[in-house]
Amino acid sequence: MPLVTSTEMFKKAYDGGYAVGAFNVNNMEIVQGITEAAKEVNAPLILQVSKGARAYANHTYLVKLVEAATIECPNIPIVLHLDHGPDFETCKSCIDGGFTSVMIDASSKPFAENIEITKKVVEYAHDHGVVVEAELGTLAGVEDEVKVSAEDSSYTHPEEVEEFVSKTGCDSLAIAIGTSHGAYKFTAAQCTRNEKGILVPPPLRFDVLEEVSKRLPGFPIVLHGSSSVPQEYVKMINENGGKMPDAVGIPEEQLRKAATLSVCKINIDSDLRLAMTGTIRQFFNEHPDKFDPREYLKPARANIKELVKHKLINVLGCAGKA
Ligand code: G3H
Ligand code: 13P
Ligand code: ZN
Repeated sequence: MPLVTSTEMFKKAYDGGYAVGAFNVNNMEIVQGITEAAKEVNAPLILQVSKGARAYANHTYLVKLVEAATIECPNIPIVLHLDHGPDFETCKSCIDGGFTSVMIDASSKPFAENIEITKKVVEYAHDHGVVVEAELGTLAGVEDEVKVSAEDSSYTHPEEVEEFVSKTGCDSLAIAIGTSHGAYKFTAAQCTRNEKGILVPPPLRFDVLEEVSKRLPGFPIVLHGSSSVPQEYVKMINENGGKMPDAVGIPEEQLRKAATLSVCKINIDSDLRLAMTGTIRQFFNEHPDKFDPREYLKPARANIKELVKHKLINVLGCAGKA
């Protein structure tokens, strides 16, 4: 089937108590790993492209790779989404260029300015049959070239969400409840350590999520920064020449719980990067003589597929929902 918007997908996810996985794509192997997993477990899918991905791989290559996935996976609905659109022009370029969904991220701007920019994008997008995700609140961590320190991050203020959604007309809302971008989501000082010495992050603010949902009944909520930073891949990286001390993510049980509530879209990127990098590092350590990219990209793609399958089945709960 052709690319779809997320409207129907989110309605089913909201009513069904699960979330759709939104995975970032930057090259063919990542697209293939994710879509093969979704095809195998019959899950709906959001493939998302950041400003950095467009700069790296080129808009047309990414659109055509995702369109190829729709041909290879004819029975699962796939959304092509702009992740963290920084301005109207970038959103317009994606709307004009084949995307079915865009995010305008003006969350770092003052409230009134966020409304103004978001509204402008919504008007253009809706005129072209495209849906819009907006953001209120600021996540910590690194996204594109922007790094937000934990002190500068802020939880979403629930009392702002009704005015924001009604004035902008956005179709979904990303909120800040304690998730964070990247593989180092929390400092050691923000965490406790379990008996194995592994960092345990502070719990997500489900009270904020519940208050937002109460004010926006039936409205799809989005969580960014939702990688769990699998420790087996951090270990694989560290045992094969990498250095990622104290990388820590969001516990999967908490994401599972969020997916049963009003959260309809969960963004995962860093986990796929860790799987790919760990696998390639291990491959080169074990085969220092090899130099054919197909030989090291093949196991990397296979591990992305396994990881995505696990997320779809056990974390998002969207397997079988295509
Ligand atoms: O939130 C950001 C995503 O992980 C995309 O990362 O800007 O490095 O492509 P990127
Ligand atoms: P992670 O860095 O936790 O994978 O978050 C990805 C994300 O939010 C993309 O927008
Ligand atoms: Zn994000």
